[in-house]
Amino acid sequence: MKVLITGGAGYIGSTIASCCADNGITPVILDDYSTGLRVFAERFECYEGDIADEALLERVVADHPDIFAVVHCAAKIVVPESVEQPLEYYENNVAKAVTMLRTLSGLGVRRVVLSSTASMYEPGPDWMVDETSPVDPQSPYAASKWLLERVLRDAAAAGRLSAVALRYFNPIGADPALRTGLQNPAPSHALGKMIEAYEAHESFTVTGVEWPTRDGSGLRDYIHVWDLARAHVAVLQRFDEVCAASRSGTGYDVINLGTGQGTTVFELAEAFGEATGAPLPVQTGPARPGDVVGCATRTGKASSVLGWAPERSLVDGVRDSLAWSTKLPAVLAEEAACG
Ligand SMILES: NC(=O)c1ccc[n+]([C@@H]2O[C@H](COP(=O)([O-])OP(=O)(O)OC[C@H]3O[C@@H](n4cnc5c(N)ncnc54)[C@H](O)[C@@H]3O)[C@@H](O)[C@H]2O)c1
Repeated sequence: MKVLITGGAGYIGSTIASCCADNGITPVILDDYSTGLRVFAERFECYEGDIADEALLERVVADHPDIFAVVHCAAKIVVPESVEQPLEYYENNVAKAVTMLRTLSGLGVRRVVLSSTASMYEPGPDWMVDETSPVDPQSPYAASKWLLERVLRDAAAAGRLSAVALRYFNPIGADPALRTGLQNPAPSHALGKMIEAYEAHESFTVTGVEWPTRDGSGLRDYIHVWDLARAHVAVLQRFDEVCAASRSGTGYDVINLGTGQGTTVFELAEAFGEATGAPLPVQTGPARPGDVVGCATRTGKASSVLGWAPERSLVDGVRDSLAWSTKLPAVLAEEAACG
């Protein structure tokens, strides 16, 4: 089997590409390298360019007429930037994606796996959600993903394609073999800030301790990026079955990918200490503008539909993130040399 992975030079797409290759699925990558790394993409057959470049898509499909499906990871993903640049986000994540879907469907590539996001959920009273929970996207980024899901649902209902939207919770870690990982050396999420504090021998600040959670700090569902990648392989291996059995009966379905475990920021700091062998010093501060309490997912659907369950623990995720952050400077130097 061969799959086109858009955004395959990015953090998640490159991990999916490795996991596909490890499982006998040949990845073909399309990326504009706006945030992705050439050194990630060039391990496989790859094309440089925009997802909405119709001539490029025609060339990719002419070169690979046996592409089974597209795994669409390419997107702009920075929430605060999306608030400042909504038009650019809707253009990249929705308008260009629609052009890509229309072109690929015309070329016979009609199976789509979408990287979607849990950030569109409106959490319920116990901070747990499932695929039927209400959505209320709070940023242009989350709304762009919700809109693209709607596009896929409508296109599937019209028989133009079939699609599975995977709503990721909070990916952490790296490929356990350290072939790829997060390419951003200074990520703004809690684990990124913990690594920064640890490396600087400073204490980590828990921002926001008045949320109505068990310890007052925000809550997330941290899923190891390798487990996420394994879920994509599971979807690809049973794609037609999953779409045929979809609740809507129209060849479109939504599946949440998380661990089923909400982890607060204090608990993440504890896991960090476990991974390093020494407690991480912690102080507290006010919530940052735009912060949300967060949520975790029930995992019944991913388990019953995909036969998938996460295998890696929170401590594994922290450990792999730390190992990758040690390797990253050499990877970025290699990228600079080849760019
Ligand atoms: N990282 C997360 O926390 C998270 C959570 C939920 C969902 N997702 C989704 O997962 C997907 C991958 O995210 P990521 O964390 O790997 O981000 P990333 O920035 O590492 O990867 C995105 C990739 O897409 C490429 N790209 C962007 N626009 C493009 C375009 N117009 N044409 C061609 N290539 C383009 C970038 O160069 C990059 O390689 C995204 O769709 C994102 O919305 C990510």
